[in-house]
Formats: sequence, C-alpha cells, structure tokens
Amino acid sequence: MFSRIAGTGSYLPKKTLTNNDLAEMVDTSHEWIVERTGIEKRHIAAKSETTCDLAEKAARLAMEMAGKTAADIDLIIVATTTPDLVFPSTACLLQSRLGSTNGSPAFDVQAVCTGFVYALGIADKFIKSGSHKCALVVGAETLSRIVDWTDRNTCVLFGDGAGAVILEASKEAGLLSTHLHADGHYADLLKVGAGLSKNSEILKQGNAFIEMRGNEVFRVAVKTLGRIVDETLAHNQLQKSDVNWLVPHQANIRIIKATAKKLKMSMDHVVVTVDEHGNTSSASIPLALDAAIRDSRIKRGELILLEGFGGGFTWGSALIRF
Ligand code: ACO
Repeated sequence: MFSRIAGTGSYLPKKTLTNNDLAEMVDTSHEWIVERTGIEKRHIAAKSETTCDLAEKAARLAMEMAGKTAADIDLIIVATTTPDLVFPSTACLLQSRLGSTNGSPAFDVQAVCTGFVYALGIADKFIKSGSHKCALVVGAETLSRIVDWTDRNTCVLFGDGAGAVILEASKEAGLLSTHLHADGHYADLLKVGAGLSKNSEILKQGNAFIEMRGNEVFRVAVKTLGRIVDETLAHNQLQKSDVNWLVPHQANIRIIKATAKKLKMSMDHVVVTVDEHGNTSSASIPLALDAAIRDSRIKRGELILLEGFGGGFTWGSALIRF
C-alpha cells in the first residue's frame, strides 16, 4: 500500500505588503531585499483572520480537486507554528469547520518551516500501515503575528498563507519516501524566545518575536539541504537527472539556487514563489506545489522532490511520483 496525492489547494490573504511598503517602516530598500532574498512582496492576514481560516480555505480547495468530502477524510494533520489557540489544536478546529463527524484523528505538528514535510511523512506512514485511507495534510501560518515589525533583519522575510494536500491510499507508488531530521543543538540560531512555560511574561506583553542569526542559518541550510538531496536519491536508487521538479521551502532565492545547483537542475524546473509570498514557513511548500500543479507545470507521472529546512533545526524531504 502507498499514498498518492489526490488533490492540492492553497490560500493567501488578500492584503499584500511590498518591499517599498516595508521601506517606509524600517531602514531597508526594495533593492536590498530582492538582492539578498529574492522577495518582492508578502501576504498578510487581516486582524480577524486566523491560521485556521487560511487552513480551511486551502483544505476545501484540495478536497474539491480530489473529489473528497469531509466524510471521506479519516486523518487530519496541520503543520503550524502559529496555531489559533494553545489548545485545542488547529487540526481539531479545522475538523469541526469542515463538518467532519467521523471521529478521525486530528492533530498539529510543529517543525517550523519543515512542518509540512513532517506532516506529509506522518500521514504517509499512517496510510502505508493500512490503518487510514485518506489524509488531509495542511501547512498554515500567520507568521506576521510573531514578526517584530521594527526589526529589519527579520520583518522583510516572512508572510502568511496556507497550502493543503489530500493523500489517499493507492496500489501504485505516489510518495516514494520521506526523510525527516532534527538537531536541537541549533535551537538558539532561530527561535521565538518566549512561550507558555518559559519567559511567558514576554508572551503576555505581546513581544514574542522571531529571532534569527540569519547568516549562520543560511550557511547550515545550504549545507544540510545539499546532503538531504543525496540521501533521498540514494535511498531510491535514482539519479539527479531523474527528478523533474524541485519544490523547495521558500526562504531565500539564494538557498533555493544552491540546492538546484546541487541537483544540476535548471531553474526552469524549480518552483519559485518566494518572490510573491516571502517565507510562509510550513505553508511555503504546499503553496508552491499547488501553484505548479494548478498551472499545469507539474504533470501526472512526473517525479517531484520537496525539501525543507527550519527552526529546531529541522529538515526533511519527500520524493513523490505525482
Ligand atoms: N535591509 C537593509 N539592510 C539589512 C537588512 C534589511 N532588511 N537586514 C539586515 N541588513 C544589514 C545588516 O544589518 C548587516 O549590516 P552590517 O553589515 O552593517 O552589520 C548587513 O545587512 C548584512 O547582514 P547579513 O545578516 O550578513 O545579511 P545576509 O546576506 O546574510 O542576508 C538574510 C540576511 C537574508 C536573513 C539571510 O541571512 C538569510 O536568508 N538567512 C536564512 C534565513 C532562513 O533560511 N531561514 C530558514 C527558515 S526560517 C524559519 O524556520 C521560520
């Protein structure tokens, strides 16, 4: 038994923030942001819009493409670092919104920017085990809520959005393999240094923000993503030239280009949305995947490599026959 992608969906909040808008808020420029990151604009959730709102819109589109109703879905996993509430999980809130009454398990996964790949890997294992047949896997974030809008080092990087995938049981191989990793020794390079049981006063003051040593994160990300490309191909006994599409986490165009170079892949076969979306953390990969499936760049039968890297550090990949 394997899992295969039956449908994808995504959603971006209406409001956009351009680099020029940001240049009016902090000491930066459109040219600096584009040169160092490739980002031109990002979407920002409205005040009343929550992570679950974005997740629901993406999920409904994925269900529509897959021809599935809430009753067909027997597993819901939401990858998010910005849940609506401490609990219940965003996945439980989403289950209720979708009108599901079949008692299917629903839970969140927290692996920051690698969250979607983690969630996909978990769903794949549920399906492969034969215990579940149809999973809704979502990456959704309102990162704008944990960005310090006075810190030019970080505020230019992030955006909000959601992407979703329906995975269903199949006799033919869709998801060929997933590879999940973490190294908590790097926790301090990229973090929000406040939570419910540590530095909670910072959280209560509304000052819990992303802190990042960008340069160091950049160096580890490039090295690590190169390694995971090799690991994934070796595991499947495939060559670089077998991969049709790279759908990377969208953090920085320079990191994406370095991974494409490692794969000896032309940028024409790399799905890039970082220019339009910025870094939407766990939403970035399913957003990019949905864009390239809906505009028919990615076709049935093609081989797709997903890869992500984020806080923790966490990193992972998935190789998919679409
Ligand atoms: N505008 C203008 N200047 C800026 C800005 C800005 N927005 N931000 C920083 N600078 C300045 C710095 O202050 C520094 O100035 P100084 O030399 O006078 O001290 C200078 O630019 C260079 O700073 P660096 O940090 O060395 O710049 P770098 O080339 O590394 O680019 C960046 C910074 C874009 C953050 C890059 O390091 C990066 O993309 N890092 C990886 C981010 C990432 O991949 N995160 C992973 C996942 S995120 C997640 O998990 C939530």
